Amino acid sequence: MPDTPTSPLRSALFAQIAGALMAFSLVWLGRTFFQLPLFQTAVLQGLCAALVSWRMGAPRWWWLINLAFLPLVVLALAADIAPGWYLLAFILTLLLFWRTDKSRVPLYLSNAATAAAVVRLLPQQACSVIDLGCGDGRLLGQLAAARPDCRFTGIEHAPLPCLLAKWLNRQHPNVVIRHGDFWQQPLGEFDAVYAFLSPAPMAALEGKLETEMQSGKLLISNSFPVPAREADQLIEVNDRRRTRLFCYKIGLKTAAKPRN
Ligand SMILES: C[S@@+](CC[C@H](N)C(=O)[O-])C[C@H]1O[C@@H](n2cnc3c(N)ncnc32)[C@H](O)[C@@H]1O
Repeated sequence: MPDTPTSPLRSALFAQIAGALMAFSLVWLGRTFFQLPLFQTAVLQGLCAALVSWRMGAPRWWWLINLAFLPLVVLALAADIAPGWYLLAFILTLLLFWRTDKSRVPLYLSNAATAAAVVRLLPQQACSVIDLGCGDGRLLGQLAAARPDCRFTGIEHAPLPCLLAKWLNRQHPNVVIRHGDFWQQPLGEFDAVYAFLSPAPMAALEGKLETEMQSGKLLISNSFPVPAREADQLIEVNDRRRTRLFCYKIGLKTAAKPRN
């Protein structure tokens, strides 16, 4: 992603080191009064790391991750599991999620009700549509079945979901799945872009679309609005998670109404 903010991994590393320094200073200062066993020392380090993470303004789930990290390492070491299992878990996680720390976009999937709503939003005439970060490609499969006259492209950087997307769409001649980074994908040939990402890349994404797409083309963003811009259309999907689809006409910018 262009202009990536501070990496959350770097912030977590800082919180862990600062937490360790704080915890070990406390243990050292209190050594004449108490002796903490290893696990309790790790919990103390976790509390200090969570505190640092909170003071750094990290999102709440990072407080929890920083709190639990060292105590879990101590427990895992005590469980005496062969190191190969950790390596396998790491490789599988990497293949599934790839560099979520960099993209700030986790893997979660659009449901069938959302796919049906997206079908209704597509232009009536034959068109080409791209799903930026297509995950397992099931959304594209549903769109392709509903609109055999249209061409659908999915681009995904995580190897496992990408392979799955290719496999699940093997019967759809109007779907192409590409492995790669959507920031490197030129978008000029598309009539509509579907994105289900996170708040983090939305401003940069709008910049890319405004630069590369023709005026009047469509952006459908699942759940995450473009900042400082009023959506041209807002669709509320009747599903359990109350999905909202923010629709924008590229090149026809409407500023967001100022909040009172
Ligand atoms: C929230 S999921 C959405 C999946 C799918 N579009 C759907 O709606 O079911 C976002 C996906 O974007 C992928 N992704 C994130 N950043 C990407 C990038 N720069 N290039 C390609 N894929 C990316 C992630 O790996 C993840 O699979």
